[in-house]
Amino acid sequence: MRKNIVAGNWKMNNDLKATKKLVKQIKKTLKKDKLKNTRVIVAPTFVNLTAAVKRSKKSKIEVAAQNMHQAANGAFTGEISAEMLRSAGVKTVILGHSERRAYFGETDALLAEKVNTALANNIEVIFCFGEELADRKAGKEEAVVGGQIKNALFHLEADAFNKIVLAYEPVWAIGTGETASPEQAQDMHSFIRKNLADQYGNDVAENVSILYGGSVKPANAQEIFSKPDVDGGLIGGASLKAEDFCAIINAF
Ligand code: 13P
Repeated sequence: MRKNIVAGNWKMNNDLKATKKLVKQIKKTLKKDKLKNTRVIVAPTFVNLTAAVKRSKKSKIEVAAQNMHQAANGAFTGEISAEMLRSAGVKTVILGHSERRAYFGETDALLAEKVNTALANNIEVIFCFGEELADRKAGKEEAVVGGQIKNALFHLEADAFNKIVLAYEPVWAIGTGETASPEQAQDMHSFIRKNLADQYGNDVAENVSILYGGSVKPANAQEIFSKPDVDGGLIGGASLKAEDFCAIINAF
């Protein structure tokens, strides 16, 4: 059965001290008894991963990286490899975030390579995708999202999807305060699940968690998460405050 997941993407926020403090606060605030089928993930910046891993031990909190290089190692100044993440105790990586695509030129083809490298190193992937406002205005949101998934993931074998979480993040809803309506999220998630079913069969489609991301906050989480094909959220701004992040988790 697929799991509910709430993941906090901290982006380029929180220094070492703030990282330690936030992990500690989340640990304290989480209501363990309510979390049976829910995973909680936080994604600090690279330099603070080790500290976050250390401080989240013996808790429900898992630690993910926000990015990773596709090569095993070598002359790639400033980059971080899958093996480095593993050795830091990180078992999950976010790939394909719209900010990586927009500001760092990450393409579907590059992301396909990164996905392969992560999986080859036994690192779970939270794969992000989503249409821009112009796409939605032109009625092209399904074509765009369908293409992003197909181009980066559909070369994989079915069993690879045991290690993949999908995150639908419409670009127009990220950091804007504008959220997709629960119906818009459900429609897209159901479309994504249908694509998976067409390509890999119902078993795979039913077992992959599909998260929604884009201005999720305590006030709207419950309604979004109540939709049948929404298995949780990828949270930006609201994941930086323990109280808000935990309220979103408790929305399940
Ligand atoms: P916000 O929740 O700040 O809109 O960010 C969403 C996001 O980009 C998570 O990856």
